[in-house]
Amino acid sequence: MPHMASIHVVNVSKRFGEALAPSLREQQRQARMIGRPPRERTAEDAPPEGSVLALDRVSLDVRDGESMVILGPSGCGKSTLLRVIAGLESYDGEVFYGDQNMRDVPPKDRGIGIVFQNYALYPQFESKGNLAFFFRMHKREAEIDERVRQTSQIMGLGFEALLGRMPNTLSGGQKQRVAIARAICRNPRLLLFDEPLSNLDAQLRSSTRIEIRRLINRFAITTLYVTHDQTEATIMGDRLAIMDRGRVLQVGTYRDVYARPANAFVAGFLGVPPMNLFDGLVEAGQVSALQARLTPPPRVLDFVVRGQRIIAGIRPEDIVIETDDAPDAGDSPNALRVAFEFVERLPSDRAQLLHATVGGTRLIARAPIERDIPLHKPVRLILPPDRLHFFHAQTGMRI
Ligand SMILES: Nc1ncnc2c1ncn2[C@@H]1O[C@H](COP(=O)(O)OP(=O)(O)OP(=O)(O)O)[C@@H](O)[C@H]1O
Ligand SMILES: [Mg+2]
Repeated sequence: MPHMASIHVVNVSKRFGEALAPSLREQQRQARMIGRPPRERTAEDAPPEGSVLALDRVSLDVRDGESMVILGPSGCGKSTLLRVIAGLESYDGEVFYGDQNMRDVPPKDRGIGIVFQNYALYPQFESKGNLAFFFRMHKREAEIDERVRQTSQIMGLGFEALLGRMPNTLSGGQKQRVAIARAICRNPRLLLFDEPLSNLDAQLRSSTRIEIRRLINRFAITTLYVTHDQTEATIMGDRLAIMDRGRVLQVGTYRDVYARPANAFVAGFLGVPPMNLFDGLVEAGQVSALQARLTPPPRVLDFVVRGQRIIAGIRPEDIVIETDDAPDAGDSPNALRVAFEFVERLPSDRAQLLHATVGGTRLIARAPIERDIPLHKPVRLILPPDRLHFFHAQTGMRI
């Protein structure tokens, strides 16, 4: 049984491309010309041009045995965070496994198993050699046969047949199984996955993610799983950390984050499709938005002033579509009339997505697939007050 570990990332920043800013380079050149010692770059200097702040004061706690998904758009710093935790990148701040600061512990001594998107198998070894490599490196050859046998058993049907094969003779899915086996073979206390399924076709992706989830459950190994696939995120993550532009914006279960996004970015990211967001203006006791008058809960009105611009949001499934011949009610609060432009059917969800444009803003409503909803003809939409979300226009923070 592997020993488990919690992970604590404390105020970690990472900047790539730490070249000197041109102004400082010029100062240093001048200093040398007049024979003075050149000034070093300090934290006060502007960050060098062209450099990227991949992680911006990130803090994150992963509990013993927990599976945490890191979710966010391309380039937001997910892989960098994983690599920092693995010890593969330098960083400012601290990383702890349990109460041990990992600053000076090399990756190979951290008890981690990593699975990358591109598999990263050693091409010169057959599958068994890939599994055995770690034990050879640590002079633990005696354990190889037993560990490979146990791992094959865990990996299940057909895995043993792959052991003698060279990586270049394996399919993508087979390579990924070997890569996963290699990661668990060493009894890691921490498993790190970086988009491990993105090179597999849809069917293999859905079967492999179940297989990985089974493994995680079976051993309760602390796991960090990077993905930008939300279905994968719900399966793999006990909790999610949502990242954007080098920052962790919110941590919680999918259900909690979905129900109460902490800011407009998370609201507009989580969900397929995500929340509808639109500009609003605070007026006496209400918010005008989408050519409608919305009545927010009093709690929200306490935190805004008249004339303030805010962002309002509602999830597609929370919009009520009324197709009966209702009295013209474009004017009653929380209602508006729209004509849907087209429909997107999702048979496996038994749902349809209806698309409209209201005063230049796109709006998507979701309804059961059986419902007959006309296109190009005004229908009435109700935005129930208790289903509305409001965010500050400037900061994006939830009100
Ligand atoms: N070795 C590097 N040198 C310079 N910049 C880098 C390096 N690695 C990453 N970056 C930059 O840091 C930022 C974060 O990159 P990272 O790979 O962590 O993003 P990501 O969230 O994993 O994206 P993706 O979903 O596309 O894999 C990006 O702007 C990227 O261009
Ligand atoms: Mg990445």
